[in-house]
Amino acid sequence: MKLLEGKTALITGAARGIGKAIALKFAEEGANIAFTDLVIDENGKATEAEIAAKGVKVKGYASNAADFAQTEEVVNQVKVDFGTIDILVNNAGITKDGLMLRMTEQQWDAVITVNLKSAFNFIHACIPVMLRQRCGSIINMASVVGVHGNAGQANYAASKAGLIALAKSVGQEMGPKGIRANAIAPGFIDTAMTQNLPDKVRKEWISKIPLRRGGTVEDIANTAVYLGSDLSSYVSGQVIQVDGGMNM
Ligand SMILES: NC(=O)c1ccc[n+]([C@@H]2O[C@H](COP(=O)([O-])OP(=O)(O)OC[C@H]3O[C@@H](n4cnc5c(N)ncnc54)[C@H](O)[C@@H]3O)[C@@H](O)[C@H]2O)c1
Repeated sequence: MKLLEGKTALITGAARGIGKAIALKFAEEGANIAFTDLVIDENGKATEAEIAAKGVKVKGYASNAADFAQTEEVVNQVKVDFGTIDILVNNAGITKDGLMLRMTEQQWDAVITVNLKSAFNFIHACIPVMLRQRCGSIINMASVVGVHGNAGQANYAASKAGLIALAKSVGQEMGPKGIRANAIAPGFIDTAMTQNLPDKVRKEWISKIPLRRGGTVEDIANTAVYLGSDLSSYVSGQVIQVDGGMNM
């Protein structure tokens, strides 16, 4: 029996990277997949095809997760296309790093809006569906820096700390209705987001990781399967750090 058989998952920012890996792993476990990204271009279409090859229903939706109205529209369309939304993964995220003294208002607003407000938008739109079903699992993609902070990433770290508090608050509000909310805090994961870092910075990060390697997108996807499935049916309000032991 597959772990997510018969469930529908909605994953934001999943045309590539961690979101795509979660979509593929969820599909392997039998879930139908609705995913969003800013655009569904050739790359997004290729992601759609890879997921479809796992034998599940899939559709990619072009939408800006930071936009409240667009999110309502997209969730309404997912309801029409799939009928249910059992798992919501708030994964879309960006960085605009800079030291506090030089950080612009634009850098601050962009990161808080895309990373944190987007999760509010999607949770707000999906909660009525989950309430009707009296079950649901919400997973916010945070970061270890949301727990520990990081010099040069005040905006990003604050957005990720916000995602953790958002999961805990929604978990408390919605627990009596059978809805769970948790956060994953990845450490240093090899994706487009980290591949652009200078070699020196990458090596410094790796040297701080007891397992002496960057994480893979599959490491994060496996944790998402656990939180999305009934394996974690008594787990809510938690932050799972998937970081090679970096912060033990
Ligand atoms: N890579 C890491 O080391 C790492 C570590 C900790 C946390 N994370 C978090 O994991 C998540 C995924 O990261 P990734 O490394 O796969 O990044 P990525 O840049 O490879 O993928 C992010 C995806 O989100 C999409 N996106 C960006 N803004 C969007 C918006 N407004 N609306 C819809 N989609 C949007 C992008 O187009 C992209 O497809 C992010 O929230 C990131 O902060 C990543």
